[in-house]
Amino acid sequence: MQRIAMLGSGFIGRFYADSLHGQRSKDKIVSIYARKEENAKKFAADYGCKQWTTDMEEAIANPDVDVVCIALPNNVHIDAVMLCCKHKKAVMTTKPLGRNGEEALKMLKAVEEAGIFNGYLEDLVYTPKFIKSFESVKNGALGRILWAKSRETHPGPHSDWFWNIELAGGGCILDLGCHCVEITRSFIGKDIKPIEVMCWADTQVKPIDAEDHAIGLVKYENGAIGQFEVSWTFRGGLDLRDEVMGTEGTIWINNFLRTGLEMFTTGKGADYVAEKAESNTGWLFPVGDEINDLGYNHMFADMFNSIENGTAPRETFYDGYIVNAVIDAAYKSAKTKLWEPVKLDVWRGKEGIGKASNLVEYDADNYLIKEEMTHYGARKVIIKNKKTGAISEKVLA
Ligand SMILES: NC(=O)c1ccc[n+]([C@@H]2O[C@H](COP(=O)([O-])OP(=O)(O)OC[C@H]3O[C@@H](n4cnc5c(N)ncnc54)[C@H](O)[C@@H]3O)[C@@H](O)[C@H]2O)c1
Repeated sequence: MQRIAMLGSGFIGRFYADSLHGQRSKDKIVSIYARKEENAKKFAADYGCKQWTTDMEEAIANPDVDVVCIALPNNVHIDAVMLCCKHKKAVMTTKPLGRNGEEALKMLKAVEEAGIFNGYLEDLVYTPKFIKSFESVKNGALGRILWAKSRETHPGPHSDWFWNIELAGGGCILDLGCHCVEITRSFIGKDIKPIEVMCWADTQVKPIDAEDHAIGLVKYENGAIGQFEVSWTFRGGLDLRDEVMGTEGTIWINNFLRTGLEMFTTGKGADYVAEKAESNTGWLFPVGDEINDLGYNHMFADMFNSIENGTAPRETFYDGYIVNAVIDAAYKSAKTKLWEPVKLDVWRGKEGIGKASNLVEYDADNYLIKEEMTHYGARKVIIKNKKTGAISEKVLA
């Protein structure tokens, strides 16, 4: 059983609480910190927390608290993490870890020096669809991964601070791209070094200083490409889709819209549909079990099992730091319009692996370009002569 201090009683704090207290959970939020007394009191009443406070340190230092869950605006993550280090409390932080790589690195170093458990709450690598896909990728069902794309777009966040570039640290690249970078990096291999980023970003619709739409490419040392597509101006709800392409297969994931549950209503007796749904009439795409389908349950189970077993969870502050470093390069590239290197002061994966070979052996004299079955039932191969480079085709019996 884990006793939790929740820092932040807003949008994600409540989603986390619904997951933590859902389905007869044995884990309990014992303390809630919020800036405003009325919000702290309301959250404490809603979730049965013993303590509410408007003093962050008081919640963290509470001797009944085993683990602290940071659900605060991006600019406040670092102060909260430092207080967890001071009081030697296990800490889990929502995404993004920092507003940039520098902040993330400070947090990574601090938790490791303090020797405390650290978990990065990247829920989208814990969705049931991701977990199933990841197992298939890990077991080789897709062969060598060549490209992984992740798209998260919606009509924009719901609190003022997100739209303030100083407080948030960026726009949709940081807010949504952090999910996409970690999803694609996981499919490509977390031990494969991200080396360069090319990014287009623009402010197309909103009157803000940050970008509200962006597309980026992340190049990995083994030649694989990660791609992110993010927007705060997308209309039609929350579009969460991933695609993975390998030498032996393909995966398409749709986490939120058109997941197989479709409903029509005239709007009489209309109800909540799903996060960021823009309408509750007409044809709708509700999500079966939003908390579970977004990965929160599997994520907290991994975090708490890891705390209890003394192991590292799937996602740690180190992962959060890598994501921030990739995003820093994306912001730079969006300005310079060049491929920008990913600056990694800490890297714990493989080093110096080259791009994989594209030469597939056919026989002693030839490489295989393609093998297929024709509509008349013959096996056809297209091959390239190793010495002459000549390309030819053969129809086999
Ligand atoms: N899927 C996800 O993982 C996901 C989804 C949404 C938000 N988030 C992250 O969660 C964090 C909070 O986002 P949110 O949507 O819950 O925001 P929110 O505005 O709904 O809630 C923020 C909470 O922090 C408190 N707060 C605000 N400013 C503060 C300050 N200066 N000092 C202390 N407390 C302050 C607020 O009172 C509120 O309780 C952000 O880092 C965001 O990126 C993650």
